[in-house]
Amino acid sequence: MDISAILHKLSPYLREEVYYIVDDALGIDLQPQFAIHATEENKSLQTVTRIWDWLFSLHATRCALIVCIGGGVVTDLGGFAASTYRRGVDYINVPTTLLSMVDAATGGKTGINYGGLKNAIGVIRQPLDTIILPDWLDTLPSEQLISGFGEVIKTALLDKDLWKQGLGIEEIGLRIEDVLAVKRRIVEQDPTEQDIRKALNLGHTVGHAVEGLSIHQTQTSPLQRGLGGVLHGYAVMYGLVAELYLSVVKLGLDREILRQVSHLMVTHFGRPNCGCSDYDELIALMQDDKKNEQVGQINFTLLKAVGEPVINCTATEAEIKEALDYLFTL
Ligand SMILES: NC(=O)c1ccc[n+]([C@@H]2O[C@H](COP(=O)([O-])OP(=O)(O)OC[C@H]3O[C@@H](n4cnc5c(N)ncnc54)[C@H](O)[C@@H]3O)[C@@H](O)[C@H]2O)c1
Repeated sequence: MDISAILHKLSPYLREEVYYIVDDALGIDLQPQFAIHATEENKSLQTVTRIWDWLFSLHATRCALIVCIGGGVVTDLGGFAASTYRRGVDYINVPTTLLSMVDAATGGKTGINYGGLKNAIGVIRQPLDTIILPDWLDTLPSEQLISGFGEVIKTALLDKDLWKQGLGIEEIGLRIEDVLAVKRRIVEQDPTEQDIRKALNLGHTVGHAVEGLSIHQTQTSPLQRGLGGVLHGYAVMYGLVAELYLSVVKLGLDREILRQVSHLMVTHFGRPNCGCSDYDELIALMQDDKKNEQVGQINFTLLKAVGEPVINCTATEAEIKEALDYLFTL
């Protein structure tokens, strides 16, 4: 990526103090720069502390602008560091993965992993802007592109027009702004997720459980708590299929939508590598989900029709197992 393209887009915001937090895999040199190796392990309090130390060592003031250039790991971390440094300085995200372009870099959710739990600590604070440069996708590994496609499909299910237009992974670079517009519209109505923003959690109750299970399964010992596992957008896609099944059973969603999404899953994402023996752990993970609002009740966003999400739904264990049966036998 040509640095001048980034600077051109940033030019309306540039000021005396600008600090760059950058994914080290991108090979960019913008000074002053803090480079991050983008792994879930590095999305930690230790890295945030290092960023704070770096900003203090440069005497960054409250008028500083922080520019985060990278995927969701960098924008979550950089946004959190910016939101807490001297009680919060301005930040801008320049997302470089599909997932961060359509999801992570917009909406103001920032944070870190803590105690082996993903995104356990964080704040919601909006960036000044999110700058989309689709050319970043040219170098993105295909599995990362597919992962982002999971969030694209979820967002399209929330908007009749976007869904009707159809979504091909090949031309996704041309459609990013359309997908983002849907997310922005929802976030603007409910920035702190008290109500309609929960619609964006479609697919994420089962999805987070699948992601959580894969994290546990890759942990070799309590001291080597790896946070690697199935990529986020893959887990969301598996979650979508299970939750659309629940939507058919509980809200009368047209079965054809379930069929189309199941087909997209099998074609692009493959099948999840968990199964019936994991049901109890998956349900325990759902019971522990931070989106739940009552002890013992698992919270879902389901779909009555495309563009008609229903928030705060619940399901019995038997219904959830039936949905997992559908997902695992595809
Ligand atoms: N804040 C939110 O609302 C939100 C939403 C969804 C996900 N997330 C978070 O986002 C993170 C995942 O983000 P991600 O999927 O963007 O992955 P990532 O930031 O982990 O990046 C994935 C990999 O791609 C590399 N990479 C980044 N841009 C590249 C490019 N243009 N070319 C080649 N390689 C590139 C990175 O170095 C890394 O190895 C997770 O931590 C997740 O919790 C946050």
